[in-house]
This record gives sequence, structure tokens and C-alpha cells, in this order.
Amino acid sequence: MIVDRQGRRFRNLRVSLTSACNYACTYCVPNGKRLVAAQDELSAEAMARGVAYLIEAAGIERLRITGGEPLVSPKLETFMQAVGQMGLADISLTTNGQLLGKKLPLLVDAGIRRINVSLDTLDPAAFRSIARGGDLPTVLDGMQQARAAGIKIKVNMVPLRGQNLDQVMPLLDYCLERGYELRFIELMRMGHLASDSNAFLQQFVSLQQLLSLIGERYEYLQADAPVDATAVRYEIPELGHFGVIANESVPFCRTCSRLRLSSTGWLHGCLSSSNRHYVGDLLDKPRHQALPALQRLLVKALGDKQEVAFSGGATVMKIIGG
Ligand code: 5AD
Repeated sequence: MIVDRQGRRFRNLRVSLTSACNYACTYCVPNGKRLVAAQDELSAEAMARGVAYLIEAAGIERLRITGGEPLVSPKLETFMQAVGQMGLADISLTTNGQLLGKKLPLLVDAGIRRINVSLDTLDPAAFRSIARGGDLPTVLDGMQQARAAGIKIKVNMVPLRGQNLDQVMPLLDYCLERGYELRFIELMRMGHLASDSNAFLQQFVSLQQLLSLIGERYEYLQADAPVDATAVRYEIPELGHFGVIANESVPFCRTCSRLRLSSTGWLHGCLSSSNRHYVGDLLDKPRHQALPALQRLLVKALGDKQEVAFSGGATVMKIIGG
């Protein structure tokens, strides 16, 4: 197993099935153009082989399927069927929820038990201006159907000053009432926000600000979370839990165990590094040739991790899926 000086190793793999997305969220796609699939995307089979090889070469235990928006990808079904048979401890998915209702039977068949839905507001007008695509009732309905099918739902919200701060409490209540766990994600300096400090600072909402907002209405206690978790978790007694992924306020690089594979075949060891390592060509090779080469690249990818804190990255979330 490849372990670094800080005792970190890769356990969690995130595979971005496609960089295409049916939204164009303001903090992700500054020019508002909807994203299409890259010309050089790998096939579902190659990506699934990548997962199998990385289970062996890196010790991957858990998989999250991301995008772009993974549910728009025609590769979804083939990929899920293949990775469902690899003995992974957990397979989860991050989606904007727009196609959740439609794709639910496929997801249930593939054994998905947990889904994260990105949802920044319950206000239809704000939804349109942030996501610049999609339809709010369709997302809420998809979540409801997924819950009825026994899937555990987390909701990701990126609080943005001037855009959806008034939605923190409505979204929290909405989630508490339905047993969804809300995760606030502190805005990250990624893509255009890495170089535009003004835009970042104008919109950024900190963990402390969120807690004081929530504290006006609810008592909360810090709750348990796994050691390599990225979220600080809180319990509101008798009502439920929420979490904050506080990249800036409570950095979690020291225990980061994530590895990312892009839809075009690049390994990323760290979101805060512009380094990436091409493995697309290795995935067509037989195991005995691919594994040693992969291992050499994994050493480099692990070396790309920050020691302590995320410091911004030119990599764009839409490509690598968070
Ligand atoms: N900062 C914080 N979160 C982001 N996401 C996308 N871009 C950013 C950013 N710059 C979120 C999406 C999605 C998750 C994968 O990452 O809203 O919920």
C-alpha cells in the first residue's frame, strides 16, 4: 500500500463519469455556458477497469460517482453494473437531482444506498439564477422518490452571500423534516474563484457565520464523524443532524484519503494542486502491465496532497466533481 509521511493513503475514489452538466451554476461555470461531454472521454468499460485496477493498486474501499452531472451520462448503466460487482464497501453518487426520478430504478438495481443531492435554495427564482438550468419541483420530487425507495439522502448547499443566505434556515428545516442530512459546503477557491479573490470574498460564508445563524433558532451539539470525514457534524437534539464542510475554517487535508479519476482519464491526488497524471492509456492494458505503472503514478498523486490546508486550485469542480 502506498502511504505518505503523514500516514495518509487513498481509500476513497471519486470517478467523474462525464464533465457534461445540465446546470451551469454561477460558482462553477462563470460564463454560464452549459457543459458538454469532452471529445476524449473514456468508455464506461475503461473507467470500470480503472476502478478495478485502483482497488488493487491503491487500496480503494469506497467509490463515489460524480460529474459534471453523472446522471446525464450514457455510460451510467454499464459503469454501475460493472463496479457493483467489485466488492466495494460503499458506492454512492453526487447529483443535482434533476434526473433522479427518471434514473432511480437503475440506481436502485445497481445497489446504490446513499445519494448526495446538490441543492442551493428552495426559492424557484433564486434556483434559476444560481443553477441556470433545471427545475426545482422536479429535483424535490426526485429526492422524495429516492427516499421512498430507501435511499439515504444528503443535501449539499453552498451558502453564498447575497444569493441564498436567506435559504439556510428554510433548507435546514426542509431537510430535518424529511430526514435528509444537510451539508453546508464553504465556498472553495476553485476554478475562476482561485484567481478572483474579490469574487470569492464577496460570496464566502464561514462555518462561524452559519453556526450563529442556526444558533438563533436551534441548540446544537458537535456529533461524531469518521476520522477522514471532511464535514464537521452537528446534532440538533430530537430533530436530526447537519454538517459543514469547512474547507477554509476547519481544513481537513491532514486526513484526506481521496483520489479522483476524471472522465478523460486523469488521476488527481488533490483538488488544491494543478498536477494530474494521465492513466487513460493504462486502462486498456492487462493487469500485470497496468498495475506497476499505476503504482508509480499513485506515489506522485499522493505527493500532490497539501499538508494542512486547501489553498485554492485552478481545477474546476465541473471537471472533477468535488
Ligand atoms: N465551492 C464549494 N462547493 C462547490 N461545488 C461546486 N463548486 C464549488 C465551489 N467552488 C459543490 C457543488 C456540489 C459539490 C460536488 O460541490 O454544489 O454540491
